[in-house]
Amino acid sequence: MASVLVLNGPNLARLGAREPDIYGRQTFEDLVAACASAGEELGLDVETRQTDDEATMIAWLHEAADSGKHVAINPAAFTHYSYAVRDAAAQVTGAGLTLVEVHLSNPAAREEFRAISVVGGVATGTVAGFGFDSYRLALSAIAVRNGSPATTP
Ligand code: DQA
Repeated sequence: MASVLVLNGPNLARLGAREPDIYGRQTFEDLVAACASAGEELGLDVETRQTDDEATMIAWLHEAADSGKHVAINPAAFTHYSYAVRDAAAQVTGAGLTLVEVHLSNPAAREEFRAISVVGGVATGTVAGFGFDSYRLALSAIAVRNGSPATTP
């Protein structure tokens, strides 16, 4: 069974309380449960984590690259400026693993600074704008791309 780390960056533990008009009223715990249930359906071993700390996010990406885990990452604000997170993400895709950039909102339709992703260029692909479904779609892409038996007819 393929393993996937679902990595979440700064302020995402505050889902539910944080700008609910943009990010919805469901909490981070709800997101963890949604990813676990998508993983079960898709035949993936899914672990969901969150950090506000750039160094921790980079260490988790190194862990994924070294241990052969695919990644769905919502880099949150790191998306727009962290070359260090980008360089770490590049090591995941460079190792032949799938890394999907995920956003709850559609950053391209918001403030100008959000239109730039420094991570997207090293990701396998990006899913944005579908709320929690963005994560489910990212996990589905990882399952299909890596031949999960749950996704093959
Ligand atoms: C976000 C979009 C980012 O611009 C923002 O900084 C976030 C959340 C999203 O999921 O829509 O924290 O990544």
